[in-house]
Amino acid sequence: MSKDSISIGYNAKELKLPLLRGTLGTPTVDIGKLNKKLGIFTYDPGFVSTASCKSDITFIDGEKGVLLYRGYPIEQLAKQSTFLEVSYLLMNGELPDEKRLSIFTNDLSHHTILHESLSGFFSGFHYDAHPMAMMVGVVGSLSAFYHSQLDMNDPEHRRISAMRLLAKIPTIAAACYRHSVGLPQVYPRLDLGYCENFLNMMFSRPGQTYTEQNDYIDPVTVEALNLLFILHADHEQNASTSTVRLAGSTGANPYACIAAGISALWGPAHGGANEAVLKMLVEIGTVDNIPKYLAKAKDKNDPFRLMGFGHRVYKNFDPRATITRDTCHAVLERFPSDDPLFELALALEEHALKDDYFIEKKLYPNIDFYSGIIYRALKIPENMFTVMFVIARTAGWVSHWLEMMDEPTHRISRPRQLYTGYDQRDYPTKNA
Ligand code: CMC
Repeated sequence: MSKDSISIGYNAKELKLPLLRGTLGTPTVDIGKLNKKLGIFTYDPGFVSTASCKSDITFIDGEKGVLLYRGYPIEQLAKQSTFLEVSYLLMNGELPDEKRLSIFTNDLSHHTILHESLSGFFSGFHYDAHPMAMMVGVVGSLSAFYHSQLDMNDPEHRRISAMRLLAKIPTIAAACYRHSVGLPQVYPRLDLGYCENFLNMMFSRPGQTYTEQNDYIDPVTVEALNLLFILHADHEQNASTSTVRLAGSTGANPYACIAAGISALWGPAHGGANEAVLKMLVEIGTVDNIPKYLAKAKDKNDPFRLMGFGHRVYKNFDPRATITRDTCHAVLERFPSDDPLFELALALEEHALKDDYFIEKKLYPNIDFYSGIIYRALKIPENMFTVMFVIARTAGWVSHWLEMMDEPTHRISRPRQLYTGYDQRDYPTKNA
């Protein structure tokens, strides 16, 4: 990492701040000594210009629409790899050879099963609990099962925690869905691939044979899931990953940290967008209503936003959206549907891309504009869309948690603030 510096002066004092340059990307001013030396803080709500850590995992160039996992372009990974290879890559830094992948897959499949007592937790939830609410609770409660024996200073203990999370989250996700429709949980099957096993845990019915299950363990469905999981696997310091890092910086149990990440992902500005896109399409209803809703999205006094449009980092196109757009068309061809929402989505995309407001503000469809449509075509229930995002992003969350915990010098994350409340004042004297 090459270093030069920029100078800043305050109160007749001058300080040279190191300018850090990573392998790729924007030069970054190291302001760590600013408070100690000059007695000032920096103010950056929403972390628009602030790097919160160093990381080797993922790189995004928002202007050029570039996304790299450990240096590999997302387009190449999407075309040539599987979600488990990508998970291995994110966690370990290199693609696995055949032997390493086989050990990793085998290791993972043996962690898929839930402790029988944990399976019992689901009965405490009302049948109409949102699956994301159950995910927060059940994933967090894994910490109750794996706490006392966990030595956070032992890298092997940390690796096993990461593997358990990656393996158990699909089992928990499917169990959340089964609970919501009143069906018994399905045990994971060690002989099935990651996506096939998930589909089996979601949709199999008692007494069905594997051949009868082929309609939902369909190769196009498996391929589409694998692709969406790869595209959603990591996205550098997004809100949920930063939440996992922030919680992890205190030394908290990893399962609790991932539950914190799941909570952050749920919001419609982040992972909740895929479910929000479908809700928005239902609200818009027909192609005729599109101009009215575009006008609402542009109106500063109206809270309505076009869900699935815009991104903090991507300002020309989201490379994940380009890939999902093609998949969306392939899936719709494979499962032809007269669902009016598909036609509406494509019409909305066309209108927005020609609209001056969206062009001027560089608001393009993001990955979640299309992912919800694909999941709907694959018959994944709408309230499970964000849970699907959780399954994929777990690979990124655990990789960032491992990276942070491996750093010998990591410190607790503790932002400062610009206080705008009352000056000090006296408590009113009480009448005797
Ligand atoms: N519809 C209408 N106007 C928008 C939209 C939108 N979806 N997104 C941004 N704008 C406007 C916004 O009002 C602002 O206008 P002005 O400059 O006049 O104040 C300008 O564009 C910049 O927006 P911002 O809110 O400052 O941008 P941000 O970087 O803080 O927010 C975002 C990014 C993704 C939260 C936002 O674009 C948004 O709310 N999009 C809809 C939700 C969504 O699709 N989220 C999924 C993101 S991709 C999945 C993931 O990685 O989590």
